[in-house]
Amino acid sequence: MAKNKNNQTIWKTRIKKKSSALFEKIGSSIEIDKNLYKQDIEGSIAHVEMLFRQKIISFKIKNKIIYGLNKIENEIKKKKFIFNDSYEDIHINIEKRLFEIIGDEAGYIHTARSRNDQVITDFKIWMRLATNDINKKLENLIKTILKIAQKNVETIMPGFTHLKNAQPVSFAHYMMAYIEMFKRDKSRFNNNLENLSENPLGVAALTGTSFNIDRNFTTKKLGFKKPTNNSIDTVADRDFVLDFLYASSVCSLHISRIAEELIIWNSDGFGLINLSDKIVTGSSIMPQKKNPDLLEYLRGKSGNSFGNLFSMLTILKGLPLSYFKDLQDDKELVFKTNKILQNSISILNEVLNNFSPNKKKMLELAETGYITATDLADFLVKNHKMSFRKAYEITASIVNLAEKKKKKLHELDLNDLKKIEPMLTSDVIKVFDLKCSVNSKKSFGGTSFANIKKMITKYKKE
Ligand code: ARG
Repeated sequence: MAKNKNNQTIWKTRIKKKSSALFEKIGSSIEIDKNLYKQDIEGSIAHVEMLFRQKIISFKIKNKIIYGLNKIENEIKKKKFIFNDSYEDIHINIEKRLFEIIGDEAGYIHTARSRNDQVITDFKIWMRLATNDINKKLENLIKTILKIAQKNVETIMPGFTHLKNAQPVSFAHYMMAYIEMFKRDKSRFNNNLENLSENPLGVAALTGTSFNIDRNFTTKKLGFKKPTNNSIDTVADRDFVLDFLYASSVCSLHISRIAEELIIWNSDGFGLINLSDKIVTGSSIMPQKKNPDLLEYLRGKSGNSFGNLFSMLTILKGLPLSYFKDLQDDKELVFKTNKILQNSISILNEVLNNFSPNKKKMLELAETGYITATDLADFLVKNHKMSFRKAYEITASIVNLAEKKKKKLHELDLNDLKKIEPMLTSDVIKVFDLKCSVNSKKSFGGTSFANIKKMITKYKKE
């Protein structure tokens, strides 16, 4: 709680007794919201410039305040600023110091505003920057995946459903599925930029103000697009926080899915990839071990983001309008989520730059599980004029035969095949070829090599 020069807390003019130490500790959010110091000062400077233009404060006072604020920013940057728990939050810490630097005229800074509009102004500006940082990291990640895809257009692996071999796919196509996911993450973050473009400053505590302020001026100055419409909604609204936490949660979920995928592929059972020594950890007892701890970290951390989203939803669900102290927790949740997410994206990027596909193993696995059975059914439909259901039935019998004879589909004898479907001729053999199978999926979005190459060019342009 900021104190004026006779050491009174700013809002303590009517509150006579000293706050209990416990309350002071609980009520303080400075450890968290000091992260907003730059945005708070930027917002305050725009505010006092506006107050001067509107003839609400004098030129001299405006300049004094701006001088003091710049000095404070410098002190904080140089770590010379002493943040004080008993001054509650970043807004009061700065205002209190302003009094020390420029004296009583600091008292003009809070004309026509409240901490309620101040805090969301700071927070929205901060979130805009964080969103841009996340988007840049996601772009980097997409580039890394694209590099992997380019090198692996013709690397064949099994595609799975239910983790059972389903149909052969190109490893590039598989990895590019994650590009689509991370692209959607980017759009989710970008969609929130719309909410973040509305300027809260000037709605004051909840009603607006009787001063003749110019909200369009601060809107422009602070990089917003327009002032918010309704003063009550403005101080109560944390939808932009939910959207950020939701976008982060979905993004962490995608990271968790690819992490799990890589953990499975790296397992001794699958052996589809090799992780470089740079990104594995050993065991304290089992000398042979190389563990994918980093990937497990990524998978685990997604839980954190989901938890933070749920905390915010829960905070908001029972809140009448407008401002309540409950809302103060929004920043801690977002800062934590942001840190974890940005870290996670960087870690995933590092992992993807440090693994290699085990092409031989991928191919071997793709040769098991009668993975080209669907190709055979499609062949029967196309070449022997039968319905897909009929073709499915015949193919199932052929798979049964292969299972009984402990053979792969391409190892079956033509005569045996003919016993099941007399129309079959030797040209059926080519449908069992894995490359042919992959390359035959030419429908838009399918795994054919030509499609993949086109997509790579498209992504590169983007
Ligand atoms: N530190 C507060 C927060 O983050 C700022 C707003 C305080 N407003 C109030 N009426 N107590 O929410």
